[in-house]
Amino acid sequence: MQRIKSPDQLVAESGADLEGHGLKRTMGLFQLVCFGVGAIVGTGIFVGLSDSVAEAGPAVVVSFALAAITCVFTAFSFAELGGAIPVSGSSYSFAYATLGERVAFLTGWCLLLEYGVSVSAVAVGWGQYLNELLNSLVGRQLPAALSSPPGDGGVVNIPAVVVILLAALLLVRGVRESARATAVMAVVKIAVLILFCAVAFTAFTSDNLSPFATHGLAGITSGASLAFFSYIGFDAITTAGEEVKDPRRNVPLAIMICLGVVTLLYCLVAVAAIGAMSAADVASQPAALSLIVNRVTDSTLGGGVIAFGAVVAIASVVLAVMYGQTRVLMSMSRDGLVPRVFEHVSPKTSTPVANTWIVAAVFAVPAAVVPLDVVINLTTIGTLAVMAVVNVAVIALRRRNPDLRRSFRVPLYPVSPVLGVAFCLYLMYGTGWTTWVQFAVFLVAGALVYALYGRRHSRLVVSTRERAAREA
Ligand code: ALA
Repeated sequence: MQRIKSPDQLVAESGADLEGHGLKRTMGLFQLVCFGVGAIVGTGIFVGLSDSVAEAGPAVVVSFALAAITCVFTAFSFAELGGAIPVSGSSYSFAYATLGERVAFLTGWCLLLEYGVSVSAVAVGWGQYLNELLNSLVGRQLPAALSSPPGDGGVVNIPAVVVILLAALLLVRGVRESARATAVMAVVKIAVLILFCAVAFTAFTSDNLSPFATHGLAGITSGASLAFFSYIGFDAITTAGEEVKDPRRNVPLAIMICLGVVTLLYCLVAVAAIGAMSAADVASQPAALSLIVNRVTDSTLGGGVIAFGAVVAIASVVLAVMYGQTRVLMSMSRDGLVPRVFEHVSPKTSTPVANTWIVAAVFAVPAAVVPLDVVINLTTIGTLAVMAVVNVAVIALRRRNPDLRRSFRVPLYPVSPVLGVAFCLYLMYGTGWTTWVQFAVFLVAGALVYALYGRRHSRLVVSTRERAAREA
C-alpha cells in the first residue's frame, strides 16, 4: 500500500501546531526575498565561478544560463507546490503528499545533501574568503594548519566551524532576528556584486571572449553542473512556509523574484569577469573576483571590499541553509520518520533549539576536515535529484488533487515540469560518474534507514491504526 499524506492533512497539522507552541508567522514578502537571496548568493559565485570557467571557458555565461533555465522550470514547480501546500517541509512534504512516504523519506534524505552537506561546503568557502580579507586588511592569513582540512594541506578548518556555530546561535535566538540579519546581508552582497560588475566592465575586452566555447558542449555541460551550485537555495523559501504571512501569495512570488534577480546578477558577473581577465587567468583562482578587481584598480583595496562582501554573503548562506535543514528535519520528525527531538519547539524562543544545535554539531565535522570540492558535487547531484522529484510531484498532484486551491500554476503544463525533469537529469549527467557512484551509495544507506527506522515509526500508520481501532 502506498503511504500518502493528503495536502489538507499536511496543512492542518502545521496549522494545529500554530495554536499551541508552534512557529510564528513573522516574515513578509521583502524579508522572504532577502531570505531567498541570503540562501542563494554565496560560495558558488564567489569561489566556484572560476571552476566553471575552467570547464567552459568564456562560454561560462551559457553554463550559467543553462543552470538558470533548469532552476526556472523547477522554480515554477516549487511555486505551485509552495502555494498549494504551505508547510515547512519543502520538497519532502510535497513528495509525501504526492508520491508516498518512501519517496518522501528519500527526498528528505537527499535534502541532507542539499542543506546539511552544503552547510559544510559553504562554511569552507567562507573560511577561504576570511583569509583573503585578513590578507587585505593586515597582510597576514590564518595558519594553513588551522584554516584548511587535511586534504588541502591543513589539519582542521576552524573558521568553517566557527561560522556554523555562530549561525546556530543566531537561529536559536529566533527567526525575527535571523530574518533581520539576513536582510542586511542580502543587501550587502547584491551591492558588492554590482560594484564588482561596475569595476570589471571598465576593463572589458571583447578579445577575451574568443575562442568562445574552448571545451565544446562537454565543457559547457560540466560548467553548468558546477554553476548550478551557485543557484542552490532558492527552494529554501518553501521551507519557511509556516513562518510567512500570506504564504499562498508570498511564497511563489518570492521564488520568482529571487531567481530573476540572481540570474541577472550571475550572468552579468560572469560576462564582466571574463571580459576583464582572460578565461585562462580566471580559471581555478580561488578568489577570482577579488583578483580581478585588484588588477583592474591596480590596488588591493578593491579586492578587500569584494572579500568583505564574500565573507558577509557566504555567512548568510550558512544561516539560511542551516535554517532550511532544521525545518525539513522538523517536518520529518513530526511525521515520525526521524527521532522526535527534532520537532520540539522551545516555548521561550519559538525555535527548534535542540534540532538546530544537533545540525550545527553534525555538519561542523565535515566542515572541519573535508575539502570543498569533495562535497560540492555531492550537494549538486542530491539537489538535482530532489528537484526532479518536485517536478514529478507537480504532475502527480494535478492528477491526484485537481481541485486543490492553487495560488500559482506552472505555465504550459505539463511541458514545464517535464522540461524541469529533463534539465535536472542533464545537469546530473554533467557531475560525472564518480559522483553518481557516491550518490548511489548514499541512496542505498537512506533506503536502509527508512526500512529499519522510518517505516516502523511513521505516524501516518499509527494514526491510521488509531482511527481503525476507534472505528472498530
Ligand atoms: N548557492 C549557495 C552558494 O553559492 C549554495 O553558496
